[in-house]
Amino acid sequence: MFSAKVVIFLASLAICYGAPNAKLSSKKLKISPGVDVKIEDYPFVASVQWCNRIYGICENICGGVIVNENWILTSASCAFEARKVIVGESDLNAKHKVIVNVAAKYKHPNFTNKFGPNDLVLLKLSEALTFNDKVQPAKLPSQGQEFNGTFVVNGYNSITTADYSILQAVTNLSLISNDDCYDKFKKLLPYEKIVIDDDSNICTFSGASNTCSGDFGGPLSQNGTVVGTVTWTIKPCGASGAPNVYTKVSNFIDWINQTITENS
Ligand SMILES: *[C@@H]1O[C@H](CO)[C@@H](O)[C@H](O)[C@H]1NC(C)=O
Ligand SMILES: *[C@@H]1O[C@H](CO)[C@@H](O)[C@H](O)[C@H]1NC(C)=O
Ligand SMILES: *[C@@H]1O[C@H](CO)[C@@H](O)[C@H](O)[C@H]1NC(C)=O
Ligand SMILES: *[C@@H]1O[C@H](CO)[C@@H](O)[C@H](O)[C@H]1NC(C)=O
Ligand SMILES: *[C@@H]1O[C@H](CO)[C@@H](O)[C@H](O)[C@H]1NC(C)=O
Repeated sequence: MFSAKVVIFLASLAICYGAPNAKLSSKKLKISPGVDVKIEDYPFVASVQWCNRIYGICENICGGVIVNENWILTSASCAFEARKVIVGESDLNAKHKVIVNVAAKYKHPNFTNKFGPNDLVLLKLSEALTFNDKVQPAKLPSQGQEFNGTFVVNGYNSITTADYSILQAVTNLSLISNDDCYDKFKKLLPYEKIVIDDDSNICTFSGASNTCSGDFGGPLSQNGTVVGTVTWTIKPCGASGAPNVYTKVSNFIDWINQTITENS
C-alpha cells in the first residue's frame, strides 16, 4: 500500500517526503519536541487522510491548512493518496469527527519533483465546512510578505506509534537563511543534491529536525497566519543538526487565489 517514499539513503540519513512509510510505523518518532495542543488554538489545521477502499479505514497521511470553507492547502506529494480531510480534531481517534471527502485536486503546475519547489496542492472539498471555535480558515499572508519572529509548526504525526493521533505543536521556531539551511543539510548529507529554492522555501532551525513523515503539508504559523507548509525533512525524524524546510506560502498567494477563483 504505502511504498517506501524515501528516495535517497545515505548512511542513516535520508530525504523523506510525502505520505508516511509503513516501515516507520513501529518506531517512536514524533514532531519533536512537540507538546499536545488543542485544535481550538490552531483551528486552521486539517488532517489529510488516505482511505482503504475495501475496508473503508482511513489514516492520517499529511497535514493541511483550511483556506476557506471549501478548500484545503497541503503538500503536492500528498495529493495522490488524499481521499478525505478531517477538521476540528485534537484527537483523530475521537468518535465523532468532521470528515469531508476530497472532490478535486489542483497541484501547482510547476511542481515536478517530490522534494523540489512549488510543493503545493489545493484540495477542493465535496461539501462546505461549517466554521466554529474548532474549525476556522487560516489567515494567509499577502503575496510576497516576509516574516520574522517566532513560529509554530503543527502535526498529528500518526506514525509516532501505531495509533498516535493527537495534535501536536513545536513552538518558538526561528527562521534561518536559506544559505544557512542549505549548509546545515549539506553537512548531514554531503553527497546529496539539496535544493532550497528561494522562491519556494523558507527554513527554521531549532537544533534538530521538528517534523516527521505524516506532517507534510501541515502549517508553520505565526499568530494564526500560515507562513509555511511542511515540504520535506530527513530521516530519522528528530535528526540532530537538521533544519526544517517549508513551502513559502506568501509566494503562492496569487496562485492560491487564482486556482480557487477559477475552480469554484
Ligand atoms: C510556472 O513556471 C512558468 C515558467 O517559469 C511561469 O511562467 C509560470 O508563471 C509558473 N506558473 C505558476 C502558477 O507560477
Ligand atoms: C520584522 O517584521 C516587522 C513587521 O513586518 C518589521 O517591522 C521589522 O522591521 C522586522 N524586523 C527585522 C529584524 O527584520
Ligand atoms: C525561544 O528560543 C530562543 C532561542 O532559541 C531562546 O533563547 C528562548 O528562551 C526561547 N523561548 C521560549 C519561551 O522557549
Ligand atoms: C502575536 O500575538 C501576541 C499576543 O497575542 C503579540 O504579543 C505578538 O506581538 C504577536 N506577534 C506578532 C509577530 O504579531
Ligand atoms: C483574490 O482575488 C480577488 C480578486 O482580485 C480579491 O478580491 C481577493 O481579496 C483575493 N483574495 C485573497 C485571499 O487575496
